[in-house]
Amino acid sequence: MVTTPDKPEPLTVLYDGACPLCRREIAHVRRLADSRGNCALDFIDISHDNACLPAERATLLARLHVQRADGSRLDGAAAFVAMWQRLPGWRWLARLARLPGALPLLELAYRGFLRIRPWMQRAARRLDHPDGDTAGRGAAALSAHIERELRSDHAGETGAIHIYRGIVAVARRRGDHALLDFARRHGETEAGHLALIESWLPPSHRSRLLGAWRVAGWLTGALPALFGPRAVYATVAAVETFVDRHYQQQIDHLRTHAGPEGLLPALLRCQADECAHRDEAAALSDHRPGWPLRIWCALVGRGSAAAVTLARRV
Ligand SMILES: [Fe+2]
Ligand SMILES: [Fe+2]
Repeated sequence: MVTTPDKPEPLTVLYDGACPLCRREIAHVRRLADSRGNCALDFIDISHDNACLPAERATLLARLHVQRADGSRLDGAAAFVAMWQRLPGWRWLARLARLPGALPLLELAYRGFLRIRPWMQRAARRLDHPDGDTAGRGAAALSAHIERELRSDHAGETGAIHIYRGIVAVARRRGDHALLDFARRHGETEAGHLALIESWLPPSHRSRLLGAWRVAGWLTGALPALFGPRAVYATVAAVETFVDRHYQQQIDHLRTHAGPEGLLPALLRCQADECAHRDEAAALSDHRPGWPLRIWCALVGRGSAAAVTLARRV
């Protein structure tokens, strides 16, 4: 593509519209871009972008991304610098970032920000809704029901991360690189889900049994991994089938009763990822499992349901 100083190459900013921090920042950037007509910046809210593959969306939501006209992407500090380069009043910062050693430093600062982002998201939501986050249904607040459901989601996502850690631990010992790749990819998505749920649920409202959910999750991944990848895929398909239904119940509730702004798209996003996990695992698993594996998968489904019931309360 031929670009000139008057007509730069189009750049698309991929941002998380469900995040109050991202919404504020992008609104500011948009105003700046609009004040100068030829910035060639477009914006896509990935939290609502149905064209985006669920697995890809989790990666895109974890960090800021910008996409060039040829489809290639920059992320993290490099994405910010590319965006600043287009904004009136910010180009000096982009020039500074191009000094030797500046970009790695910015990247380090960005990673530090990502660690505290869940806390800042909660603070931003409180600023948006000063009535508090447990004041009741209808406002942008958490009802007692939604709080219980989110506690079970938080416990579930904690368990999910540890399922994949258990699989990784065994797959590494067995030198099963395909299974390692599967577990690491899924584990990264689950970590994104956990961060998302943590941005909604304050630490004081989380399950007091997180240690137990971690151990249970790790065993749910490691035990089938001892018997080979097919047992793992069948287990993941069973877990994700349950998780899909669990999220669907919450989505149905939010569609019937008003809930806090941004929560419904957040849960829809998690559910879409879980369905992608389920479908991938089901495609890889043995379609005619023996009775021991069928019993194990039934136990996993029942165990997940019991864990959710308990995590809603404790
Ligand atoms: Fe998840
Ligand atoms: Fe999942």
